[in-house]
Amino acid sequence: MSDKAVLTIGDKAYDLPILKGTTGPDVVDVRKLYGETEMFTYDPAFTSTASCESKITYIDGDAGVLLHRGYPIEQLADQSSFLEVCYLLLNGELPKGDALADFQTTITRHTMLHAQFDRFFEGFRRDAHPMAVMTGAVGALSAFYADAIQVDDPVQRKISAHRLIAKMPTIAARAFKYSIGQPFVSPRNNLSYSENFLRMCFAVPAEDYVVNPVLARAMDKIFILHADHEQNASTSTVRLAGSSGANPFACIAAGIACLWGPSHGGANQEALEMLEEIGSVENIPAYVQGVKDRKYKLMGFGHRVYKNFDPRAKVMQKTCYEVLEQLGVKDPLLQVAMELEKVALSDPYFIDRKLYPNIDFYSGITLRAMGFPTNMFTVLFALARTSGWISQWKEMFEDPTRKIGRPRQLYLGATQRDYIPVDKRG
Ligand code: SDX
Repeated sequence: MSDKAVLTIGDKAYDLPILKGTTGPDVVDVRKLYGETEMFTYDPAFTSTASCESKITYIDGDAGVLLHRGYPIEQLADQSSFLEVCYLLLNGELPKGDALADFQTTITRHTMLHAQFDRFFEGFRRDAHPMAVMTGAVGALSAFYADAIQVDDPVQRKISAHRLIAKMPTIAARAFKYSIGQPFVSPRNNLSYSENFLRMCFAVPAEDYVVNPVLARAMDKIFILHADHEQNASTSTVRLAGSSGANPFACIAAGIACLWGPSHGGANQEALEMLEEIGSVENIPAYVQGVKDRKYKLMGFGHRVYKNFDPRAKVMQKTCYEVLEQLGVKDPLLQVAMELEKVALSDPYFIDRKLYPNIDFYSGITLRAMGFPTNMFTVLFALARTSGWISQWKEMFEDPTRKIGRPRQLYLGATQRDYIPVDKRG
């Protein structure tokens, strides 16, 4: 294959280098295009645009493949742990020897929050959406941990990355406890990452809380499934915020805000609320007709990249069965979800548009069975995705060619005109 593309504009031809990846689509390098042609490329939703080089996550949307540093998501979910995946995303290789134990100890030692930080939550109404709390609270971390936010210092970047991975469960659990009016529960260093999180969410002072190991394993697996996903909207937001040199807490807060959107991470809450609205298998045909009449979208279905099954959705569905069986929960919404999936996957409207269940389709049923209210679903997504966001942010800073991101536009507004005083405007 040629190592260049030729763009002809009028009677001039421009050579554009083709850059090759280790796998997946190659790219046409247009960085010099404006300088040579005074024209921009145009791709408003970035459907055909690579925004960066990366070695962290690879997705083959047609084949339904997701790799983190080359390892298939199915193998990581079945055999790894969330903290080991965090280490892999950050460092590029699976930990050897004592490296994982050392990393776990480091993260464990950063799980506490500054005592004054707890008062920050009191500024919110009790009925504030936990994602609003997360956006504010994480953005405020730079006011408490300003000693390691010089982004050009790799040591400070590492400390802030560890603080974010470690403190997200503590903040998320506090957002939950605050919303239900229960006292905050402090982290304990003798528990694993996911055990600690479940205890901080569900323990109450009135009695001892013993973490169910099956639920802790399921929580860890759910975090692994949500850890990273290439250059999705929220990750791109983190990278763009980071490109200005903004502190890492502000960048992650920007990612949380973007993730909250119903087309993105907010879909897990929307998908469960959709299943509740459908209510029973009998109502599926009418609801699906409403989708085909374009009244609303099928939440938890479709994906910009996956035009086949989202591999995470399959693992999520299996985890859903395991959790419900372990808890002895018979959730009628699971029947609705399974029937809805079957109907959609056999309907030409969805087949023609290559719409399959994505990670958000089954996650809500699982999380609800574990005791989380729907308004906490996207918080859990943000907790896990912090590992991917901060790994991508770190990778961006390790790129010596890093520049501030500054897209241009196709301008369709008024051309220059003179100001008219108000009494002369007719
Ligand atoms: C996540 O990017 C990532 O990697 C995200 C994520 C991650 O881990 O970071 O995977 C997490 O955000 C998963 C997606 C969660 N969102 C939802 O489940 C919300 C429902 N899905 C849709 O909003 C939609 O599928 C998107 C936003 C996910 C993708 O939209 P695209 O890529 O812009 O696709 P499109 O809108 O161009 O759709 C193509 C066609 C259109 O029909 P036509 O106009 O061509 O007739 O498919 C239709 C769309 O109307 N369509 C749907 C649909 N999704 C797309 N129709 C009904 N229901 C849907 N869910």
